[in-house]
Amino acid sequence: MLPQVVAAHAVLVKIFLVFLFAGFGVAFVASKEALRFKKAAFIYTMTFQALATMIAFSGIVAWVMSDMPTTLSVIVMVVAWAALMFIEIKKYKLIKVADLRQEQTRRLLKGVFVKITAVQVLLVVAIVVLKVLEAKGAISLS
Ligand code: HEM
Repeated sequence: MLPQVVAAHAVLVKIFLVFLFAGFGVAFVASKEALRFKKAAFIYTMTFQALATMIAFSGIVAWVMSDMPTTLSVIVMVVAWAALMFIEIKKYKLIKVADLRQEQTRRLLKGVFVKITAVQVLLVVAIVVLKVLEAKGAISLS
C-alpha cells in the first residue's frame, strides 16, 4: 500500500507542475479584462489549494504509514509546501482587492502573477530534483 501512496504523491506533484505552467497562460490571457482576471485568479487559487492539499494529504499518509522518522527531506517538503501556500494566498489577496479596471494595475498584477508562478515552478522543480538525487544516493537528507 505504501508504494501506491508514494506513487500517488509523486503523480500529484507532476500534475501540480503542469497546472503551474498553465498559470502562465492564465496571467497572459485573463489579465486583458478586469472581471475575467478576478474570476480566473479565484478559480486558479482554489484549484492550486485543492492540488496542494492533496499533495500534503498523500505525503502525510505516506509519512505516517512508513513509520519513518522526521527526516530533513520531509521537513524540506513541508516547509516548501507552506511557502507555496503562503505566497499563493498573498498573491490572490492582492488581486482580489486591486482595482483591476485600471490598465496599469492589471499590467502590474499580471507581472506579479507571472513572477510568483515562476518562483513556485522553481520551488517544485527544486524539490523534485532533490528527491531524484536522494533516490539515486547522490545526497542524503536523513
Ligand atoms: C505536507 C507536505 C509533504 C509531506 C508530509 C511529504 C511527505 C513525503 C514522504 C513521506 C515521501 C516518501 C518518503 C521520502 O521519499 O522521503 C515523499 C516523497 C516525495 N515527495 Fe513529498 N511530502 C510533502 C510535500 C511535497 C511537496 C510540496 C513536493 C513537491 C513540490 C513533494 C515531492 C515529493 C517527491 C518528488 C517525492 C518522491 C516520490 C517518489 O519517490 O516517487 N512533497 N513525500
